[in-house]
Amino acid sequence: MGETYAQIYRRSIEEPEGFWAEAATGIDWTRRWSRVLDDSRKPFYRWFPDAELNTCHNALDRHADGGRGDQPALIYDSPLTSTVRTYTFRQLRDEIARFAGALTRLGVAKGDRVIIYMPMVPEAVIAMLATARIGAIHSVVFGGFAAKELATRINDATPKVIVSASCGIEPGRIIAYKPLLDAAIEMADHKPDHCIIYQRTQCLAALTRPRDIDWYEAQIDATPQPCVPVAATDPLYILYTSGTTGQPKGVVRDNGGHAVALKWTMSNVYGVKPGEVYWAASDVGWVVGHSYIVYAPLLHGCTTVLYEGKPVGTPDAGAFWRVIAQHKVSVLFTAPTAFRAIKRDDPDGKLIGKYDLSCFRTLFLAGERSDPATLEWAERHLKVPVIDHWWQTETGWAIAANCIGIEQLPVKHGSPTKAVPGWDVRVLNNEDKEVKPGDIGNIVCKLPMPPGVLPTLWRAEERFFKSYLERYPGFYLTADAGYRDEDDYLYIMARIDDIINTAGHRLSTGAMEEVLASHPDVAECAVIGVADDLKGQVPIGFLVLKAGCENPQHMIVSEVVTLVRERIGPVASFKSAVVVKRLPKTRSGKILRGTMQKIADKQEWNMPATIDDPAILDEIAEALRTIGYAR
Ligand code: COA
Ligand code: AMP
Repeated sequence: MGETYAQIYRRSIEEPEGFWAEAATGIDWTRRWSRVLDDSRKPFYRWFPDAELNTCHNALDRHADGGRGDQPALIYDSPLTSTVRTYTFRQLRDEIARFAGALTRLGVAKGDRVIIYMPMVPEAVIAMLATARIGAIHSVVFGGFAAKELATRINDATPKVIVSASCGIEPGRIIAYKPLLDAAIEMADHKPDHCIIYQRTQCLAALTRPRDIDWYEAQIDATPQPCVPVAATDPLYILYTSGTTGQPKGVVRDNGGHAVALKWTMSNVYGVKPGEVYWAASDVGWVVGHSYIVYAPLLHGCTTVLYEGKPVGTPDAGAFWRVIAQHKVSVLFTAPTAFRAIKRDDPDGKLIGKYDLSCFRTLFLAGERSDPATLEWAERHLKVPVIDHWWQTETGWAIAANCIGIEQLPVKHGSPTKAVPGWDVRVLNNEDKEVKPGDIGNIVCKLPMPPGVLPTLWRAEERFFKSYLERYPGFYLTADAGYRDEDDYLYIMARIDDIINTAGHRLSTGAMEEVLASHPDVAECAVIGVADDLKGQVPIGFLVLKAGCENPQHMIVSEVVTLVRERIGPVASFKSAVVVKRLPKTRSGKILRGTMQKIADKQEWNMPATIDDPAILDEIAEALRTIGYAR
């Protein structure tokens, strides 16, 4: 019999170096490590410090030349364009090597940055892996972000080349990417040398020569490039994620620890074998897409599915079951919001019965809290284990999960189960003491964390330290609050910062407040996340207007809604705001956002002892009622 979860977990915490050195044998190295963990600069740690490898080799060449050359590596399934296209490991490797040649010819070399601003097309994956192949660093920007967000990332990552497409496709509309890209480059102080544009027939882009080059033209006579060995500690990618200000955090991922950890999770967390089909229904612009559409399945020799569609409406709520049956998917990973959408359109799960799902083994959910009702619905209708697991952009893989590949533990609805091996998770109070089971506190992870977790923020080590390591010395602050029960199951309840989760997308209300505050009629503002049946949470804004403002309130509200869409993007789902006379504050001037949220969500709330003027809360409730919130 294999080891139990408890045994493996104990070994990972007591002998982390031995544990991860063993996991590292799953990866091809061009130079082996002499030390597993470098702890000479505490609290900054590095895994496999003197080892070398290439991540693209491990994801592609290793399989293409090692007996999986003819196995599908990637299946592109796009109901939005009625396309299904399959790439074998050999075909995908060859395309990547050629595109790497195009990048090299444009001067991209080891350590240079390449921004990838693309929809869910195979060319996005090819661009990511080609960048990794030549030891450069990619930074993928989600297509639903506005030009200004892209400009911020261009300035921070200072890319030599940007790879983009002429358009993205959302149900019912085409999103022309090129005007957004041009506007972003115009706004940014840093200018890329070149842009490579993948033209889609749905909308062709006008190219600005000589800066812009067509995707295919860039590859004419390009010399296919071999894999360049890099240090395990060299960055593989930068992925920007919402922080507590308008300036996103550039999460850095290394090459070595990342490959080791992700490969290990495929068999241990997800219970998947090489050769099987694995599908993460997310977007390459998010961390789930990086880890589980692109890297982990390929590192493990699995076939990955790249799905350009939605859970509903493309064409109906049976879309996921169609994909599972057609491509023989073993494991699906998505966000609970996708299941809430399916449940809303097909409450009795009638469409499930239309498809042969005998290949389907497990459903994994993450990105936001799995509400028990949705989880139970999925269990009842799919009749497979439904596993909630908890992680973050920063960690790159799960901190807590039911590790089905090791041992399936009993499911407790509302909990992502227990800490995954490698993670020493604690719940601390404000006095730095561990709380007792059942009591809520700040969830932290003891340092050093396992491989694959962010070693730093891009060119912002001080911000990295202050954001995550300063509050509890020796621990990483997850910024999630929650508790642990008597059986060591974790419950993730809320963020302790201004982050909200909308349809599984991570957004900063602080960043939205910055946009609202820039409106000329707005004196003061606040944004909070309120409960939403489909998206989990959606943002709403409160505006206090400048004295003497005579513009109609409905016009100002509509203008700020447009501003957020223009500056942050449609993904913010910012659709409602109300004008109020004042904002409720403590005597020291802190806005009482938590109380406002409880009022909006019709929850019980207590009058804060420190409130400056209790009457303001009645005004807030009244304003909220006008847009359908509060009792
Ligand atoms: N490019 C451009 N615009 C995009 C986009 C992209 N890649 N992705 C989303 N948008 C737009 C949407 O069209 C929508 O625009 P609208 O306000 O004009 O309608 C807006 O951004 C908000 O998108 P979203 O919050 O995703 O809502 P939706 O109504 O389009 O879809 C779900 C709702 C639940 C179906 C969808 O969010 C979903 O499938 N989520 C689950 C999977 C997932 O992606 N999880 C992420 C991490 S695991
Ligand atoms: P992101 O960085 O976009 O992956 O968002 C990470 C945040 O999403 C976490 O810090 C949590 O607040 C939330 N989150 C992700 N997965 C879960 C989960 N399974 N349960 C509860 N919250 C989750």
